Amino acid sequence: MANTLLIYGSLTGNTEGVAFKVQEILREKGKEIEVKNAIDCDLEDLTKPYTGFILASSTWDDGLPASDFNDFIERISSSKPSLAGKKIAILGCGDSNYVHFCGATTIIENLFVNEMGGQKVIETIHIDGYPDMEENQALIRDWAMKLADLID
Ligand SMILES: Cc1cc2nc3c(=O)[nH]c(=O)nc-3n(C[C@H](O)[C@H](O)[C@H](O)COP(=O)(O)O)c2cc1C
Repeated sequence: MANTLLIYGSLTGNTEGVAFKVQEILREKGKEIEVKNAIDCDLEDLTKPYTGFILASSTWDDGLPASDFNDFIERISSSKPSLAGKKIAILGCGDSNYVHFCGATTIIENLFVNEMGGQKVIETIHIDGYPDMEENQALIRDWAMKLADLID
């Protein structure tokens, strides 16, 4: 079993692409992470012995996480297991033309860090526009390289 689980929510595939890119970069640095779409995740995934979680979602609907991630949040929000001692990294895809730029990442941080007690180990990354743009690819690479030294 990998030490870290990356859970992503994505409607048009941008965050999904970033999730697998992050997995590839971390693998180059010797870190195996498991990647799962939020649609396939529930409470059980958070209570398995992962030592960390990477939570990734785009933002839609005036600041909400992508619907697949939002449904995952609904499935866990009645029990909210403790994430004390778990390493958390958060990633968002969005568009700065919207008022709530990457608003999903704030919702995710409030729940997984502030309420469930996970330990945020790196500044959240906000990807503005198409992830394939050169500057975004560089941003993603730098972030993932840094993250590799902070997770198990
Ligand atoms: C109708 C619509 C609403 C959106 N709302 C927001 C928003 O509130 N905040 C934001 O940062 N981006 C917003 N976006 C931009 C998307 O989050 C962005 O295109 C993202 O890369 C999509 O990623 P995904 O394919 O992983 O879902 C919106 C896009 C559309 C088409």
